[in-house]
Amino acid sequence: MATRTQSRTSNRSSSSRSSSSGGNRAGSSNRGSGSENRSAFSWGEGAGPIIAAALGGAAIGFAANYGRKFLMQGMEATVGDWDEILAAEHDMALAIFDKMLATDQTQTFKRKMLLMKLTHALDKHSHQEEMVVYPALREANEAVSADQLEGEHGYIKTFIFELNEMGADSPTWLEKVREFRELVSRHAHMEEEEVFPRFKRDLDETQNAHITSLVNRDGFWMA
Ligand SMILES: [Fe+2]
Ligand SMILES: [Fe+2]
Repeated sequence: MATRTQSRTSNRSSSSRSSSSGGNRAGSSNRGSGSENRSAFSWGEGAGPIIAAALGGAAIGFAANYGRKFLMQGMEATVGDWDEILAAEHDMALAIFDKMLATDQTQTFKRKMLLMKLTHALDKHSHQEEMVVYPALREANEAVSADQLEGEHGYIKTFIFELNEMGADSPTWLEKVREFRELVSRHAHMEEEEVFPRFKRDLDETQNAHITSLVNRDGFWMA
């Protein structure tokens, strides 16, 4: 992980270095000699500082984003095995639902923010399951359960679509959120109480650790 960050950091500094000097060097006789010349492609005079500022901003954005990813991954790493990580994420999602259910029709901004937060949390969570856990379930002769669970993820996305379409001030918003919460709660219960424990019982320590590391890695990129 550190290596990835280091390489990103060095890419970042070389980009801003070359572009910050671009305005001065455009059209100079140095064109064509090595890496410094990347600055001179066909940007006009005066574009350099603007590009440098843009790249600088992007670099700060990247740094902030990766900082957040590492923080989130660190938090996940303290939770434990893959099934405990996923169960903690279920609880987090259900807590967001409860906040949504505590809003009224006038709190449209809050509703939209909570829906965005929920969408992001469920997106990351379902990606971890669909890219790692469900394929592993299928390999372990649990294809029927994996297919059912993955099918339900489709309806989770449908609820998100419908909530976005109906608008945060709709009189039926709370009813829709309640129905949505029911589905997620039932789905999480099936995973936590039936499918995951049955699957985990047959895993040895190495297989279990492998799935945990894959879930953590997928979660890192989706954070
Ligand atoms: Fe799921
Ligand atoms: Fe889940």
